[in-house]
Amino acid sequence: MSKRISIHGQWSSRLMFILAATGAAIGLGNIWKFPYLAGENGGGAFVLVYLLCLALIGIPIMMAEVLIGRRGRQSPVNTLHSLSVEAGASGSWRLVGWAGMLAGLVILSYYSVIAGWTLAYLMRMLSGTFVRVTAEGSGSIFAQLVTDPERLLAWHTIFMVMTIKVVSRGVTNGLEKAAKILMPMLFFLVLVLVAYATRNGDFAQAFNYLFYTDFSKLTPTGVLTAMGHAFFTLSLGMGAMLVYGSYLPSGVSIAQTSILVGLLDTLVALLGGLATFSIVFANGLAAGEGPGLIFQTLPIAFGQMPGGMFFGALFFLLLVFAAWTSAIVLIEPLVAWLIENREMERIRAAIWTGMVAWLLGIVTILSFSHWSFSFHFGGVLKRHGLFDVLDIVTSSIILPLGGLCMALFAGWVMARDSVVDELGGLAGVGFKLWYFIIRFITPAAMLLIFLRAIGVL
Ligand code: PHE
Repeated sequence: MSKRISIHGQWSSRLMFILAATGAAIGLGNIWKFPYLAGENGGGAFVLVYLLCLALIGIPIMMAEVLIGRRGRQSPVNTLHSLSVEAGASGSWRLVGWAGMLAGLVILSYYSVIAGWTLAYLMRMLSGTFVRVTAEGSGSIFAQLVTDPERLLAWHTIFMVMTIKVVSRGVTNGLEKAAKILMPMLFFLVLVLVAYATRNGDFAQAFNYLFYTDFSKLTPTGVLTAMGHAFFTLSLGMGAMLVYGSYLPSGVSIAQTSILVGLLDTLVALLGGLATFSIVFANGLAAGEGPGLIFQTLPIAFGQMPGGMFFGALFFLLLVFAAWTSAIVLIEPLVAWLIENREMERIRAAIWTGMVAWLLGIVTILSFSHWSFSFHFGGVLKRHGLFDVLDIVTSSIILPLGGLCMALFAGWVMARDSVVDELGGLAGVGFKLWYFIIRFITPAAMLLIFLRAIGVL
């Protein structure tokens, strides 16, 4: 079975898988969310817990997803179905694939809207809108953008077309080509921004902020947020890594590549955080601003710095690239399923799927203006109505449950021999350790994240 090849094709090399999977992992989560979460949760101690969670939860689940995918060589729904039948378990495991596919569609609907903000900001930086902008000015530019549905719709449409375009061209000419071109540029941009931040920003303070560990600042909420983010940042729980694993040539080490992808994702989050905080601190601004850190605080800082508009534009270009290579994996599982089960042509499957996500995106767009309402969830005030509902249902509920199921599937449902066979290179103590983590530690951690997300903990 493991020697089967996916009908969708496969990555042409180990390096291509690493680039594509890293592209799927590095997204808005790394450059937008990670710095503000670190900022809100007190810096160093949060970062340390996050790194531990990546090692203990993130990378082991990534290995599980990739190995399930490579064993099944089909879309998540069909893979989970055939592997569970093969293992003598219930075929209902395919529901995990269904939940993931639908979550991907919903996440893409709002991810594309936020990615649209980054496109809008790229243009604004280029046109010099933020030169010497004040705090109020920056706040009102942001407010004007998000309360203008027509403008948001235009950017959302552009981003969705970019996503459909890549997915419709298939594994080799679409997904792989995008990764091959965009990922080196993304790494280059990160390095340029770090160099800029070192020269013009307060690098020492940023470094201290992210790496000086003061455990008194760590709260239980901070720990659970770190766990949840370690999971989100690697795009786990919805079948993304599973479908990328199904295109992985046999013989490539799953353990080595997953660890590398995890390390690259972390490196970009840390470097992105260092650049952001250096620039923010150099201008006397605050770090704990929440989601507005990138869209409201950072532009003020760029507006006061030499070459700020140019480097600010590069910063938002980096965000666009990061979002783009993550967006494509959000619909790939559903597109693969439509091709397998409905015998659709890839281009039609991609357009249909993208159009549904596009339509659903209108809900998010209006959640910032006409349809906005507030509610409390898990003890936190949510102010963006249905956008928050969609985000909670997917990233706080379906993804952790999906991750839990993937761990249980690899740890308890699949025959140990098949797992050993797929993990190939990982032998002896390494395998035993991973197997123990995936069977006991990860499921417990996922349950905690889930209970926390729904406000029980
Ligand atoms: N990992 C992506 C990010 O950091 C988010 C994502 C989650 C993308 C799940 C795809 C699937 O932004």
